[in-house]
Amino acid sequence: MPTKNDVLSILENERGRFVSGQELAEALHLSRTAVWKAVKNLEEDGHRILAIKNRGYMLDERSDMLSEEGIRVHMPDRYIDCPIYVFDTTDSTNTEAKKLALDNAAHGTMLLAEEQTAGRGRSGKSFFSPREAGLYMSIILKPDLGISDPQLITIAAAVSVCEAIEKIAGLRPQIKWVNDIYLNGKKICGILTEAITDLESGGIESIVVGIGINCIETNSLPDDLRDIAGALGKDGLSRNHLAAEIAAGVLDSFNNLENREIIDEYRKRSLMYGRDISFLRGDERLFATVTGINDIGNLQARLKSGEEIVLSSGEVSIGSLKNLGVEKNDEE
Ligand code: BTN
Repeated sequence: MPTKNDVLSILENERGRFVSGQELAEALHLSRTAVWKAVKNLEEDGHRILAIKNRGYMLDERSDMLSEEGIRVHMPDRYIDCPIYVFDTTDSTNTEAKKLALDNAAHGTMLLAEEQTAGRGRSGKSFFSPREAGLYMSIILKPDLGISDPQLITIAAAVSVCEAIEKIAGLRPQIKWVNDIYLNGKKICGILTEAITDLESGGIESIVVGIGINCIETNSLPDDLRDIAGALGKDGLSRNHLAAEIAAGVLDSFNNLENREIIDEYRKRSLMYGRDISFLRGDERLFATVTGINDIGNLQARLKSGEEIVLSSGEVSIGSLKNLGVEKNDEE
């Protein structure tokens, strides 16, 4: 549907300004009737468009449907050719991205969905992904050469999400190691990074970075998430714009993984410093205090016994050493 999509591109680009039917018709070499029909088609698809006589058409600021056009207008020129797939509904954008990656998808391919019916989180958990409440996206990365520290991709993705939220929503989220994003004490975003390895060489062939952000509070939250999950909760936020900023940030940092600025930015946004944590080692729950984050993103901590440890993966709970021995997360 080129006509409809071309009109949408212009309206996305001109958000906040009325574009006259004449202007659209001239820019797209169409009749004004064709423009009007395209606008009707877009409305039928769910876009909210204000149409005022003698002024023209403008996307309503509450119109926030994901679209390839809406994302592309915000992509920097260097990534303008990255393929973008937007699904109304899908099982999981990461699952779809892994299929595409095996089918030779290009580096920088993005997949997004209005809703996921089988959204996946880390450690085999599900990720609640209701319609219109969130941004569910996956980005396919194709390393030319081997990657020495793949965990840095997750670190870089967490920083990119924070920077995009800061830029677009003016909020200052923080990172809970490794890659949960928190705002006002509640989790608003999770990141699931998955690698596809070449069976023959054992090297990493593709990486899928999956990002799920809760944008709007929903009262359909499952019971187990009610006290933990938060939302960006920012009126007028464009998910298309946010998606483009995040993707550009992830792609930029992927080209620059050796740059230690990424880890410095990660440290600045970390909410872990000095916090008491607990985690499982085998069947045993251990308690420690966080002392730092090393240059490859591992968590450094001191056990109650004084032993210094380094954690490279796994779930940690932030709690209080006052509760030593109590297997309960009293904060996050
Ligand atoms: C976590 O918090 O455990 C990670 C959640 C990752 C969710 C995102 S949503 C887009 C992509 N598709 C998925 O199925 N998962 C990731």
